Amino acid sequence: MQIDYNFLNAELMPDLIPVLKKTEIEQVVTSVAMKISSDYEGREPVLVGVLKGAFIFLSDLVRHLTIPVKIDFIRVSSYGSGDVSSGSIRLTKGIEIDIADKDLLIVEDIVDSGLTLKYITDYLLSFSPKTVRICTLIDKYERREAEIRIDYIGQTVKKGFLVGYGLDYAEGYRNLPDIYHLKL
Ligand code: IMP
Ligand code: MG
Repeated sequence: MQIDYNFLNAELMPDLIPVLKKTEIEQVVTSVAMKISSDYEGREPVLVGVLKGAFIFLSDLVRHLTIPVKIDFIRVSSYGSGDVSSGSIRLTKGIEIDIADKDLLIVEDIVDSGLTLKYITDYLLSFSPKTVRICTLIDKYERREAEIRIDYIGQTVKKGFLVGYGLDYAEGYRNLPDIYHLKL
């Protein structure tokens, strides 16, 4: 079946500048998955997806892994509906599976200031996992405030507000197959 992506016609979306096409995202996801599979060979890490933004990345990523994994999700809210973090981060859904003494891999859509990931890492460390690593599809580094080490990075960008492939602006655009820079 041919899907009609007419709603993605660039002329109808003057505010969206293409950043990563579907095929490029596929390459990025495949290569990150290969690296993770090789690094965790012989182990069964728990992948912790950060809702909502990481839902598409995580679902594509796990299907390219060649190791067994367990999957859970947490959810934090900080952004409200704008493009700048409100600074106050709230956990709105905690971890549900037992992660004590487990190898954790946090899966994020995009890291900006890093404050969200810092908060999430501290929260997960309180459950005494064996190891904690971080994987993000996009590392947007210009506004970094928190000192965090990201172990797996799909794509680095300097700045700009990105939407599509799970990334939202005011809850919109998440279902676009490509990633765009939204001119705000
Ligand atoms: P940080 O705490 O500033 O690193 O922000 C991280 C969170 O903000 C991510 O989990 C995203 O959900 C969201 N975010 C940051 N930058 C963008 C963007 O360019 N597009 C969509 N969401 C973003
Ligand atoms: Mg978001």
